[in-house]
Amino acid sequence: MKKLLIAVLALAPMLGLAGYALAQPRPQVPNKPGVPLARDLQAKMPKPQAVFDWAYPMAPPNTGPRPDPDETFTAEGADPSLKFTRRQISDGFGPPDWFPKDHAPMPRIVSNGREPHVRACTLCHLTSGIGHAESAPVSGLPIKYFIRQIVAFRDGDRVNIRAPNMIELAHDMTDKEMRDAANYYARIPRAQWKSVRVVETSRAPANSIFPSGKRMFEKGAKTIPVDPMTIYEVAENYQVELRNPRVGFAAYVPSGSLAKGRVVSLGNKGALRSCASCHGNDLRGREDVPRLAGRSPSYLVRQLADMKYGHRKGKALGDMKDIAPKLSDADIVNVAAYLSSRNP
Ligand code: HEC
Ligand code: HEC
Repeated sequence: MKKLLIAVLALAPMLGLAGYALAQPRPQVPNKPGVPLARDLQAKMPKPQAVFDWAYPMAPPNTGPRPDPDETFTAEGADPSLKFTRRQISDGFGPPDWFPKDHAPMPRIVSNGREPHVRACTLCHLTSGIGHAESAPVSGLPIKYFIRQIVAFRDGDRVNIRAPNMIELAHDMTDKEMRDAANYYARIPRAQWKSVRVVETSRAPANSIFPSGKRMFEKGAKTIPVDPMTIYEVAENYQVELRNPRVGFAAYVPSGSLAKGRVVSLGNKGALRSCASCHGNDLRGREDVPRLAGRSPSYLVRQLADMKYGHRKGKALGDMKDIAPKLSDADIVNVAAYLSSRNP
């Protein structure tokens, strides 16, 4: 057996095996016992309320041909000599950094994660922290708040069909890694926080959810009605698929939702405290209470609905536990539309 192996190794260069070895994926790091895997968690997650389905975008099964993993791309606005293949763009342990000059040096846990369970934060939240409608905008969050959320995912206090990846990685992060990631995203310059352009309208461009989980425009000029309970948060263009951290989403919010949402945020005609009384002047966050201004409306709706229906819970939630159930489903859509339209 040993002799055979030596013979194969000696022949390797002739067989072209050396080149093959280089193209091999990284060696597999075995899973750790006790860490739940995202793919096993998915079926156990609570289903969203039907009225909020749109805020929990899930990719339809991919039936099309598999795209070429070696096709290369450049990002709009980035150094044109910077090219990444499709495989690199979706590498969970080293996604692209298109704009290295836009940000401070990234801690390794942010840029590369740690195998096998902690995928790079930039894979979903991007180097700028603006995230995508199906993940979360995390730039400019208070450090204490940020860490508390990772712990909440780990401890079962945040569950929904979008949460399994966070739950898996939270089980394997060290305290230092949590702090490093929180510090990095807290320090992103405010000028880079904006992730959404809000359009109040009764009709939106036709759109659908792509295999990546992002809502994208469909080709052609067709429009569809925007009913009062739906927000279509659509990627500005295909650059989001490249993880371009400067490209965000356009949110088509229902006619009248901004004015109604403002009333809710001011305290819903006296029934509630104003959101700003805790979330800060201009809703830009205060102490360890997160900012709400300029964040993805899909994300905000997911959180308010999860709090109202008991899927985001626990001690950390504080007063939101009592506030969220006082919001009607329509209040949730309207206030999210209004909050997302504010400057971060
Ligand atoms: C595979 C995608 C993915 C990766 C990788 C990922 N996240 Fe997330 N993250 C999400 C999604 C999706 C949510 C929102 C879940 C929900 O809707 O409740 C989220 C939410 C969060 C939140 C909560 C934000 C808030 O305002 O409450 C924090 C904090 C966070 N992630 C930190 C991290 C850190 C740190 C890393 C890297 C170690 C990371 N994430 C990697 C997908 C991801
Ligand atoms: C009494 C104080 C208080 C008031 C009033 C308040 N909030 Fe909050 N809110 C909090 C705190 C504290 C948190 C963080 C909870 C945690 O750590 O999980 C929070 C979290 C949130 C989040 C989750 C953000 C994220 O990043 O995931 C949303 C959304 C939210 N609040 C919306 C609202 C809205 C809308 C209103 C007004 C209708 C409001 N809040 C009023 C204290 C408040």
